[in-house]
Amino acid sequence: MKPLILDGKTLSQKIREELKAEVESIVSSGGRRPGLAVVLVGDDPASEVYVKNKINACKRVGIESFFYKLERSTLTEELLEVIAELNAREEVDGILVQLPLPSQIDQREVILAISPEKDVDGFHPENMGKLVASMEDGFIPCTPLGIDLLLSHYGIDVKGKDVVIVGAGFIVGRPLSLLMLWRDATVTVCHIHTKDLKKHTLGADILISATGVPGLIKSDMVREGAVVVDVGITKVDGRIVGDVDFEAVKEKVSAITPVPGGVGPMTVTGLLMNTMKAYRRRTRSHSTSMMKP
Ligand code: GUN
Repeated sequence: MKPLILDGKTLSQKIREELKAEVESIVSSGGRRPGLAVVLVGDDPASEVYVKNKINACKRVGIESFFYKLERSTLTEELLEVIAELNAREEVDGILVQLPLPSQIDQREVILAISPEKDVDGFHPENMGKLVASMEDGFIPCTPLGIDLLLSHYGIDVKGKDVVIVGAGFIVGRPLSLLMLWRDATVTVCHIHTKDLKKHTLGADILISATGVPGLIKSDMVREGAVVVDVGITKVDGRIVGDVDFEAVKEKVSAITPVPGGVGPMTVTGLLMNTMKAYRRRTRSHSTSMMKP
């Protein structure tokens, strides 16, 4: 049985075309261009690649980007000053501080400092809380948002399904578990302390792995006919590989994401969508407040 390949690259192109048309229409009728501030601290090569991809994606859809590259030795207070400036800047709709941050920086303080209205990563507790409460007006973190769009585009309904997430990280696993609950799935979250990973993964209708451990998910850990979503992006010998042993696993599943070309582009598309959502909300609330006497 040939599995359905969940093609995030093609879906991303389609969504980005729509966003581009929206931006062009705003700008041609005299509106301000949406803007995203991207902050990179230090020179981690992987982070530099991710940030470059995000900035290029913005450019292609017509979103203006404001790039802040700070020294590796930057202190928490210095980064907080930059965030305060970005919170106040009118033309900045979204703020993204690339993680991980150097160890001397207090990541929690940084996330708390970002205005929830501009928090396009969805990491601020106000937005995480809205995810817990299934409130539409928050920002859903970009990778969970991208996975949700990819599954629904291919008609994969998670309602009532056993969704097993491997990895309980702050950026993907945790918020994704809340989003899948929102979508009425039965959710299991496995992590580094899980006693018997295979016992759980074998029970999955939909298995989502977000660990960054290449080849962690082997064929004998996957149920026949399952849907497999691979969030892993790891460079091994100059090649990008996922968490899933793709060649063996694809033989027994009904659908699977490739790496690259699956979840990766959908994450960037999630960021563009969140930036547009922030822009629409900010411009709408401005025009409303201007109408007030
Ligand atoms: N590092 C890895 N993934 C992400 C992400 O989605 N957002 C940010 N800000 N940093 C990341």
